[in-house]
This record gives sequence, structure tokens and C-alpha cells, in this order.
Amino acid sequence: MLVTSALPYVNGPMHMGHLVEYLQSDIWVRFQKLRGHKCTYVCASDSHGTPIMLKARELGITAEQLTGEISAQFVRDFLDFSIHFDNYHTTHSVENEELVTGIYNRLRDAGDIYTKTIEQSYDVKEGMFLPDRFVRGTCPRCKSEDQPGDACEVCGTTNTPESLINPLSVLSGTTPVKRESEHYFFRLSAYEERLRQWMSAATLDKHVIAKLDEWFEAGLQDWDISRDAPYFGFRIPDTDDKYFYVWLDAPVGYLASFKHLCDRRDDLNFDEYWKADSNAEVYHFIGKDIMYFHTLFWPAVLQGAGFRTPTSVYAHGFLTVNGQKMSKSRGTFIKARTYLDNLNPEFLRYYYAAKLGHTIEDIDLNLEDFVARVNSDLVGKLINIASRCAGFITKQFDGQLAASLPDPALFAEFTDASEIIADHYERREFSKAMRLVMSLADKANRYIDDQKPWIMAKNADSAGDVQAVCTQGLNMFRTLMIYLAPVLPVVAEGARAFLNEKVWQWQDASQPLLSAGVEPFKPLLTRVEPEQVQRLIAQSEESTPVAATESEDDIISIDDFMKIDLRIARIETAEAVEGADKLLALTLDVGDSSRKVFAGIKAAYDPDSLVGRHVIVVANLAPRRMKFGVSEGMVLAAGPGGSDIFLLSADQGAKPGMRVK
Ligand code: 2FM
Ligand code: ZN
Repeated sequence: MLVTSALPYVNGPMHMGHLVEYLQSDIWVRFQKLRGHKCTYVCASDSHGTPIMLKARELGITAEQLTGEISAQFVRDFLDFSIHFDNYHTTHSVENEELVTGIYNRLRDAGDIYTKTIEQSYDVKEGMFLPDRFVRGTCPRCKSEDQPGDACEVCGTTNTPESLINPLSVLSGTTPVKRESEHYFFRLSAYEERLRQWMSAATLDKHVIAKLDEWFEAGLQDWDISRDAPYFGFRIPDTDDKYFYVWLDAPVGYLASFKHLCDRRDDLNFDEYWKADSNAEVYHFIGKDIMYFHTLFWPAVLQGAGFRTPTSVYAHGFLTVNGQKMSKSRGTFIKARTYLDNLNPEFLRYYYAAKLGHTIEDIDLNLEDFVARVNSDLVGKLINIASRCAGFITKQFDGQLAASLPDPALFAEFTDASEIIADHYERREFSKAMRLVMSLADKANRYIDDQKPWIMAKNADSAGDVQAVCTQGLNMFRTLMIYLAPVLPVVAEGARAFLNEKVWQWQDASQPLLSAGVEPFKPLLTRVEPEQVQRLIAQSEESTPVAATESEDDIISIDDFMKIDLRIARIETAEAVEGADKLLALTLDVGDSSRKVFAGIKAAYDPDSLVGRHVIVVANLAPRRMKFGVSEGMVLAAGPGGSDIFLLSADQGAKPGMRVK
């Protein structure tokens, strides 16, 4: 088997959302390996594209430097979360360039590539074509301002840079122009029949099939696979200034990473896995947002280039934190590293497993529930079994387990669950597997509660039974730990070392460990305290970089600020507005004209006291129709509101109409 996780873009830090995917696939791979399958797990950094090129430019480093640095951080994050790839590579590699070029040549030779001249937004000042997201403007449908040129973030309409009202380049702030350029297209439309065949042969989930049906219904569109220079990527053969679009070489990165591994391993043969009639299985784990790329483009490209297609594509949902989208201001945009600085990674592995099913439903990380569940399940139930039994075996029986189990029927309940749990793992129903394991942990604890080894130990008649009872307890613990090894690799490792065993395979769970010597028990996990989570949130708020891409929308440039025309105004008249609780109607002398402005300052000022006062007005604000009339500007005031609001005043020497700088 070959398993992949989606390749992370190296233009920002790894966060809790990414981890859903890497943990899900890592758990699945660990399970396959534990079952004794030959399973190889690869990934790579998705290193190309405009955002990465621009980010590097902004930082004054090369794109290679940027991707190298971020990849190194990713590798550390993966390592610390026990996400174990057999190989982690990059799409900016020799292997990938060779593969992409080879694939392109085959597609071209098969007649599946053609060129067409298209019109695209072009930033004259920056001298480059603009990806749709790099053009922003007003949504033609809902009129929300500052929306990206692909899809409106407010009403969800699919837009194009051209359909936006007042489009501006996010790079230079200038209005983009239309410019023609020749692009390379992949004839996806010719693949419908082959894709339908793949769909019925692959073991796809219902929701993936439903999505594919929807796309077939709508008709497959050919795919633009080229981008113009400047671009960070691979140049298209026989061109000077055309590059492969990042989404073409990204999935090829799966092959490239595997190739890179095969080149160093005698037991892995690239062609055996990727030839058209390969018997190997290939699984891609992805997020639901990139299904189109993985279930249409990717299998079609593979078919066209003479490779095998994926056995399946497993899509998962997104992560919410406390029921909402991750947010920097709420401190729920949590980076992998910030989590690691505060909490045990095994906790998150377990929590995600306890939430994950095989559907594309989103999962929620509820931080209160996280603390409660980790403490109750892992510490209170699971580890507790061992800590209640281990001490007696060490102190009173010299670390020796008994030769037989006193309650084999109970133990059989644990081993009987083996195939059910395995089946849950296999089908990515991790939450079901976790529930079953925890219900068995409850049983083990009830057994110990009933037997009360601590009382037995005090009674000379039953002291000998303590060894048997604790051997039973530790064996139940051992079986559960083997079941949980894919989810809790570090805790399982500690448990295995405590039980003095060399390796664990899945089937070891069904054989009790008897007449063996165990090591002194050390606590394998400690409780998580709510303060740790509070600290995590506080640090996530703090670590929000002021100029991070996500917060750019909130920032205005000095040029934006300079557009505000601030003027001195003299209040000519001030009166309450009938029917309005908070408003005063002001007539302002702004030098060359007089303006009517409504101001929400009624609770703070007596109208009469305002007449003659010099204030500051935003003179170039578009007039706004309000319930009581049109307001032709805004007077500046500061304060929390209500009666605590203070007009900004100017010296009486200031002349109405004077510009404030
Ligand atoms: O959506 C993403 O984050 C992409 N970097 C995933 C690429 S997956 C594969 F196609 F390489
Ligand atoms: Zn809209």
C-alpha cells in the first residue's frame, strides 16, 4: 500500500486544521503497519505558486530559502506529533520536475494538450498577471466591498476578477488591465468515460461519488495548466515564459516523493506501484475542499500519462474550534508549535480520533470537552487500569505476572473485539473504535473495583490472589494499549517497555502475557489542567503576527489613510432629532459650504453648548441616507460610547475649511 496526505503549502505555519489530516492518515497508516501490511506513507511540501513567490519577495529571500525554512519547521512539527512519513520531500525537486515533464510530454503526444489565448487581469505596475485571488473589489451580487476575484466571502457567489465592481490589484492597489496571453490546457472533457469507469472501480465513499456525479452532470471543463512568468514553478518544455500551474505539479509530488524513497530503498520499486496494471493499493487522504483536483484532474492526468489510478481518495471535513471557524482574535487559530509548547501531542491524537468518522463532516475541537475527555478517558480510564495494578506486581511479586488469568471469559471479551475494532480503523471510523476501546476500559476498571486488590493484599488468605487479579488487570490494559497504539504511539511505546516486550503486532493483543517480568511502572500520562489550555489560547492571541496574510484585510495603507480628507468645521446649529434617541443634527460650516451631519452624541452633549465650537470632520465621506435625512460627513469623537464620548475639538484660531494634516 502507498498512502499520501495532501501536500502542505509552505507559505504559513502548520496549524490545528492541518493536523486533522496528518493525524487521520498517520493513525490509519500506523494501523496498517501494526496489522502487518507493507504500507508506505509519503508526503512533501507543496512549494510552488504565486503566493509563495510573493511571500519570499516580501521577506527579501529566495523562494527556495522560504520553502526550505518552512519545510524544516513542518518536519519538526510532524516529528513532535509522531506523524511518521516514510519520506517527506518537496515538489521543487529533481524527481518532480522529471515526472511532471514526462507526464506533460505524454499528454501532449496523446493530443490532450492544446493552447488557447485567454484574457487575464494584469498588473501593469508590478508587471505580472494576477491570480484571481489577487484582485479584489465589490461583489456584483451582494455589493460587499473588498471581495476576492474568485468567490465572494460574504454571499458565496463565484466571481471573476472581471465581474467585480471596481477591481484593484492587491499587489499595487492599481486597477488591473486585461491582457492576452497564450495558455496551455489539458483536455479533461475527453476523460469523462474513463473517469466514470475509475469511479465505479475505486472504493470511493458515497459523498465523493455524489460530488463526482454532480460534476459529470455539469460537464467537465478543460483545465488551464499554465501560468505566465514570473512564477515559482517548473518551466513548460519548449517555452520561455510559461510555467506549470502549481496544481499540476502538486499531486505529481506524491509520485516524486515516492520515487525519491524508491531510489534509496531496495525493497520498493516505483514502477511496481505506478504501472497501469499495478496490484499495489494507493490511497490519498485529502480535505474536502480539494476533491475536484484529486477525483477528476488527478486520475485523468494519471490515465492520460499511462499510470495507474488511485485505489481510493479519502476526504475529510474541516476543523472548527469551539464551534466556530478558527480565529486569531479569539485565540483559536492555534499553531501546531504553540500546541506543542503547552500540551501533550498524544492528547490531540486521541481527541481527533475520538471525533473522526469516514465522512466529510466537519469536526469540532471544543477545548472544554478536550480537557474533560482526555482526563476522563485517557487518564481516568485507560492509564488508571495499569496504575491500580502495577504497584502490587512490582512490590509484592518481584515484577512477575501470574501464570494464568483468573477470568479468561472477561479477557475473551477484550480479544473478541479485535476484528470489530480493526474494521472500524480500516473504514476510518476512528470514533467508533475509540468508543469501543473505552467501553472495554470501563469493564476493566469495574473488574478491579469488584476485586479490590488493595483489600485482598491486606488479608493473608487472599494475598496470593492479588497477583492473579493484577495480572488480569494488566493484560486487559495491554490489549487495549495495542488497540490504541496507532493513536497513542508514545504512550503505547511506554506501555510496551513497561511490559518488557520487544515489538507489538495487532494479533499480540489476543494472546495474554503470562509468567513474564515487568518493569517498575512509571506514569504514562498526567492530567491536563484547564490552565494549560487557557495559556494555549492566550499564546495564540499573542502570537498573531500583525502583518500575517490573514489579517492584511484589516490593515489600511498610509495611502488609504491619506485619502481621508479631515477638515476643521464650526458648528453653526445643533439640535435634537425628533424620534432619535442618540442623534444630534449638526449644521457645519466647512469654509466653502455648509453641511448637515448627524452625530450620535446626544447623551454626551447639550446641543446649545456646541454652537460655535470647532470640530474635525471627515469631509470626503460619501453622503449616507439615514432614517432622518442625509448625513454629509462625520464629526470625529472618541470614547466608549453613551455619555462617555468626546468630540475632538480644534483651537478656536483654526479656520473652518482648514485641512487637518
Ligand atoms: O490545498 C492545499 O493545501 C494543497 N497544497 C494540497 C496539495 S495536495 C496534492 F495535490 F499535492
Ligand atoms: Zn457577494
